[in-house]
Amino acid sequence: MAEISIVHTAESQDLATGIGQRLGSRPMPVSEIPFMDGELKVRLAEKPESPEVLFITRLYPNPNRSIVRALFVLHYLNSIGKRIRMFVPYMAYARQDREFLEGESVSIEAVLSQFAHFGVTDLFTVDVHSEKSLSNKSLRMHSISAIPALAEAVKGAMDTKNAIVISPDKGAAARANGLSSLLGVENFAMDKSRDRVTGEVKTADINFDVKGKDAIIVDDMVSTGGSIANASSILHSHGCRSVSAAFTHALLVGNSREKLSSSGIGRMFFTNTISNSDAAIDISGEVAKAVIGNVKEL
Ligand code: R5P
Repeated sequence: MAEISIVHTAESQDLATGIGQRLGSRPMPVSEIPFMDGELKVRLAEKPESPEVLFITRLYPNPNRSIVRALFVLHYLNSIGKRIRMFVPYMAYARQDREFLEGESVSIEAVLSQFAHFGVTDLFTVDVHSEKSLSNKSLRMHSISAIPALAEAVKGAMDTKNAIVISPDKGAAARANGLSSLLGVENFAMDKSRDRVTGEVKTADINFDVKGKDAIIVDDMVSTGGSIANASSILHSHGCRSVSAAFTHALLVGNSREKLSSSGIGRMFFTNTISNSDAAIDISGEVAKAVIGNVKEL
């Protein structure tokens, strides 16, 4: 019997297979049965053997439906007495980690406390948006860095001797530090602000030299593409030779790909935390290592 059984939702099969191979565990899919009125139910075809379960589920796209589906699976696993760990590759709602405007709910706390309520002790994710959610009181959260994998991908695809790493805002400065030290190049941070009511992003002009450089903008996620597109246009206007983007979570909503390409982004490096046919960087190995370490701590 494997030390830990793996249960996964359908859209996470690729990750469950990659992680299952490393943990010596056969992934068990959960089926989702939709109803005409918008409700759904879930069903596991067999009971997990091991008392320890790793439940793998993507929460994007359709975060709201996916969270409800996850709660139903957790409720079942909890009701049959399993000890539950969860792997959520992209932690939805991590951006709402505080009451930005008076009267707003701290969404991430609501989601994590529900997962904990149904027995999740440890939640693994990749590059959680804000470190603040790591200190939530409901469960232990482990954020696995995709920066080493992104650095390897960058090194494999381009000559980095003329590169600089750029953080599109102060919040991504630590990621930029990590990537630039792995690449052995300099990094700089840009200054971005977001209007909390309209969501509009403004990026200030830069006062560092990028002329003739190959810039790599690094961020945790690309959603509408506004942050990276703004940064790219400014870097090009200051004479960058090329601008690439390296990010963990490729939400890439709406016309973001067009926006990025028309702002002059050349190469894009991103992981498979979100299902995309061109997500070339697989993070299963890093996740399996983190889970194995955590199971051994028992
Ligand atoms: C925000 O601070 C995040 O780190 C990202 O920079 C942001 O969510 C990206 O969103 P968008 O692509 O819509 O600008």
